Amino acid sequence: MQTLRDLPALRAAVDALKSDGKPLVLVPTMGALHDGHMALVEEARRHGRHVVVSIFVNPRQFGPNEDLDAYPRREAKDAQLLAAAGIDILWMPTVDVMYPAGYATNIGVSGVSEGLDGAARPGHFDGVSTVVAKLFNQVRPDVAIFGEKDYQQLAVIRRMVIDLDLGIEIVGMPTQRAEDGLALSSRNAYLSEDERKAALALPRALGEAKRQIERGEPVDGALARAIATLAAHGFDPIDYVTLCDAATLEPMAVLDRTARLLGAAKLGKTRLIDNIAVDPA
Ligand code: PAJ
Repeated sequence: MQTLRDLPALRAAVDALKSDGKPLVLVPTMGALHDGHMALVEEARRHGRHVVVSIFVNPRQFGPNEDLDAYPRREAKDAQLLAAAGIDILWMPTVDVMYPAGYATNIGVSGVSEGLDGAARPGHFDGVSTVVAKLFNQVRPDVAIFGEKDYQQLAVIRRMVIDLDLGIEIVGMPTQRAEDGLALSSRNAYLSEDERKAALALPRALGEAKRQIERGEPVDGALARAIATLAAHGFDPIDYVTLCDAATLEPMAVLDRTARLLGAAKLGKTRLIDNIAVDPA
């Protein structure tokens, strides 16, 4: 595994990898790797001969009152995990390499980025689409893999790839969960022991609402009960629990097509998100 931090070195290494004509797969991350990330890395192996993983804690996708400074950084341990997984390149640009002095370009995806986390975290998805567009141009992958854990992010990236004719295959990977059902997340490290127990209410409330909606119960009642459950477990504020079109993320009041149930709420200082498929059949 080569660990690279500047663009000329990356370009040379990518050119060398691509010279055999076999597919190159990119897994973008912000590091502090857990089994959720590593599932993406393993999936990458199935899609291509060459695997590049990027680690970049992207300042542009954090709001002014968010956890940029506190965000967990574990470069040495991450590098060990990735070397053991047999990846080819670990791409770890510095902030100056990604956004040199005078940097002024923003990539914004309208529509699908505007509700849900886009409303709760203004500017967040512009930061994500901008850095992912840059990572795509830097690494020039044939395939890129993202987790369904960040379902709206995946939808935003899919839209951007179509709209900008990027020609990169986007693969969505199912959410990896702890044994008790909590979605794995770098931010789970912030949770106290009691919060970790209460956090389970999020996947459970979403699962319960999914079953009610699939049974034909009214959507608004099921969502209201999920919100009440979260409040009873100490989540505050609850940013949203919403049933959306699975592709466009437009809110749905009736289950008449393939949908996704998404929730986001804060437990103490930690903001948790989760989502689950809801099937009209
Ligand atoms: P990060 O939160 O580090 O996540 C990197 C990738 O891992 C994302 O595609 C995310 O959806 C996926 N992932 C995280 N937890 C997962 C889980 N439990 N199961 C499956 N996949 C999981 O998402 C980002 O970084 C950034 O926004 C990024 C795309 C790198 C742009 O900066």
